[in-house]
Amino acid sequence: MKKFQNKVCLVTGASSGIGKATAVAFAESGAKVIVSDVNETAGMATVSELVALGAEAIFVKCNIAERAEVQNLINQSIEKFGRIDCAVLSAGIAGRLSLPTHEYPEDEWLNQIHVNLIGTWYCIKFLLEEMLKQGGGNIVSIASAAGLRGQPNNSPYATSKHGVVGLVKTAAIEYATKNIRINAICPTAIETPMIMEGRRKLAYNPEALEAAKNYQAMKRMGQPSEVADVALWLCSDEASFMTGHALPVDGGAFA
Ligand SMILES: NC(=O)c1ccc[n+]([C@@H]2O[C@H](COP(=O)([O-])OP(=O)(O)OC[C@H]3O[C@@H](n4cnc5c(N)ncnc54)[C@H](O)[C@@H]3O)[C@@H](O)[C@H]2O)c1
Repeated sequence: MKKFQNKVCLVTGASSGIGKATAVAFAESGAKVIVSDVNETAGMATVSELVALGAEAIFVKCNIAERAEVQNLINQSIEKFGRIDCAVLSAGIAGRLSLPTHEYPEDEWLNQIHVNLIGTWYCIKFLLEEMLKQGGGNIVSIASAAGLRGQPNNSPYATSKHGVVGLVKTAAIEYATKNIRINAICPTAIETPMIMEGRRKLAYNPEALEAAKNYQAMKRMGQPSEVADVALWLCSDEASFMTGHALPVDGGAFA
């Protein structure tokens, strides 16, 4: 039997990058997968990939920064599958890594906090309500190395990710005796559209790309699947004594 056979697993940010790799890994491990993202076209493409792998999968569009949309995501998941065993929360937005704190535009500051921190809180809050009813569950939030150390010129992002780590640790303690485990993963540079094509545009900036690789002791960036594998391990019974961690996945950077 596959490791996640008959398990119902929800992934936010599953249209791209780490979230997509996690959705694929769950499907390959036998899970029924709820693919969620604000990007519907790419989300439907993820669903097609999972179905081609033989998995049962649905797409639910959700902007995690909108409370009602998160509530709808959880309701639709329960309506379809009856429970949510595991959730990996990967939806997030990057900062622009270019402005010191006093110059960072207020609207961007607020937006990063709203999506990365408050959006993650909405997801965890509504997941916990269901997991308490069903008697257990597993949540993994994709935070960041910027949730463990400062990141110059990216204060709203680093602040939002530190907030996620605080939320995860606190909730982990609160629900530890309720058969609910909650962990965070703190990746360093992972080769995804967010940093290759997005604001950091590493694909078009050889110098910045070299610096991103050299940040890790392994002198390379991580692959989305290398984060997904850790997320699945944390969700599995093999990690049954793990809760409240903010685990770097970092090619030796923190060493
Ligand atoms: N790539 C890295 O180097 C890196 C490093 C550390 C942490 N992270 C974190 O990992 C997570 C995934 O990042 P990625 O690199 O895979 O990026 P990505 O841009 O490839 O994927 C992020 C996904 O989240 C979705 N999304 C964005 N805002 C959303 C919202 N409000 N509601 C729902 N979905 C939304 C996007 O549409 C996209 O599909 C993020 O939380 C990011 O902060 C990434």
